[in-house]
Amino acid sequence: MLQSMRVVGGCRLEGEIRVSGAKNLALPALVATILTDKPVTLRNVPNLADVKSLLELLNCIGTEVSYNDKHTITLSTRSIKSATAPYDFVRKMRASILVLGALIARHKQATVSLPGGCAIGARGVDLHIKALEMMGAEIAIENGYIEAKAPNGLIGCDIAFPMTTVTGTENILMAATLAKGTTRLINAAMEPEVEAFCELLNKMGARISGAGTSVITIEGVDELHGTEFEIIPDRIEAGTYAIAAAVTNGKILLKDCRYEHLTSFFETLNSVGVACEKVDNGVLVYRKSDEIQPISIQTAPYPGFPTDLQAQYTVLMSICNGSASITENIFENRFMHVPELARMGANISVQGKTALVTGVEKLKGAQVMATDLRASVSLVIAGLVAEGETIVNRLYHLDRGYENLEEKLNACGAHVERFEV
Ligand code: EPZ
Repeated sequence: MLQSMRVVGGCRLEGEIRVSGAKNLALPALVATILTDKPVTLRNVPNLADVKSLLELLNCIGTEVSYNDKHTITLSTRSIKSATAPYDFVRKMRASILVLGALIARHKQATVSLPGGCAIGARGVDLHIKALEMMGAEIAIENGYIEAKAPNGLIGCDIAFPMTTVTGTENILMAATLAKGTTRLINAAMEPEVEAFCELLNKMGARISGAGTSVITIEGVDELHGTEFEIIPDRIEAGTYAIAAAVTNGKILLKDCRYEHLTSFFETLNSVGVACEKVDNGVLVYRKSDEIQPISIQTAPYPGFPTDLQAQYTVLMSICNGSASITENIFENRFMHVPELARMGANISVQGKTALVTGVEKLKGAQVMATDLRASVSLVIAGLVAEGETIVNRLYHLDRGYENLEEKLNACGAHVERFEV
């Protein structure tokens, strides 16, 4: 059954929201558990559709999954039952491509469907494949599948990524942990999730240095072992609720949010006129004045402005005092929220990779369509501040990345409800 969300406008969000575990760390962390035949326990795993999909795939590969509680999972892959990631899984969730590096490292063979495109862009995996070939994997593309094998194991080497790739970095990190010799990743992703991912791999016995910088060195080891690990808070979820507080002129404590994971974003909000204050147990966000200053941004790899907060920021600029430009440098088609926001009265024109947003007095509630994870949540945020009621359709996009969204918003004074259509 398809679900939609009714959002009543004109609310002010006030209260506290506990940030869940980071989706974009939980996904690679789940995959990393197949690198060893020993159990790995992950804590603070967010309860999301993408996590459930990936657990199903790992189960097919041969991983036994047991929930100790709603957010603590123990995974153990005593042996690999199937080294295949079928099209049906990978097309639904492109992060499944992460099993490629782990299966080649553990099992010396992998058959992984090419992810195909996705709503926000082509999202190729050519850099993942090239890097594995440089490490000695023999790779062929047959019938839409990546057929990879490394019968004698992988060999460490220097790999310079021509462009920063988050899951590309993570895929090669996993492959390199069990390779012979040393691998150096140059132009590696520096996201907090990648840095934490390296901590997990080192806790499993890997020998990684330079995590969080653009050059990461991995000394291959013979095997990895089990461990326990806590997933860091989700900075993108936190940033999303910061914007929701800002547009509704509310005041929210983002519990467990780590300011240093969103420095560039919080500094931008401070220039816009939204206070973002680091406090003991998180970050306190509230408007400093009635004016929302127009501040132009460009998305960039970490530590720049996160592409995953671009759609949400566009909503904030749609009610600013003036005009601001928003340039999307990471994905080629990440403005699908724009036509939907325009239906709510936003004044936005897109030229190439730049959206020019001119603030309007107010947005008006409307029926709108979610298209991808972050675009969907930007429509909910717009609904919170719009006049009247907004209906957001195709909620399955939202459930991929936001745990208990309605509960979290309604606990702060929103009126949001989900219904079957
Ligand atoms: C990760 O995607 C995140 N997903 C994305 O979050 C995030 O938007 C993105 O990084 C950028 O920060 C996960 O971590 C699971 P990339 P990823 O490889 O790794 C191109 C969300 O909303 N590219 O860093 O797939 C690619 O097309 C999601 O939570 C190639 O051309 O992104 C893109 O334009 C959305 N060839 C750019 O690089 C490759 O081999 C950056 O992609 C790899 C990437």
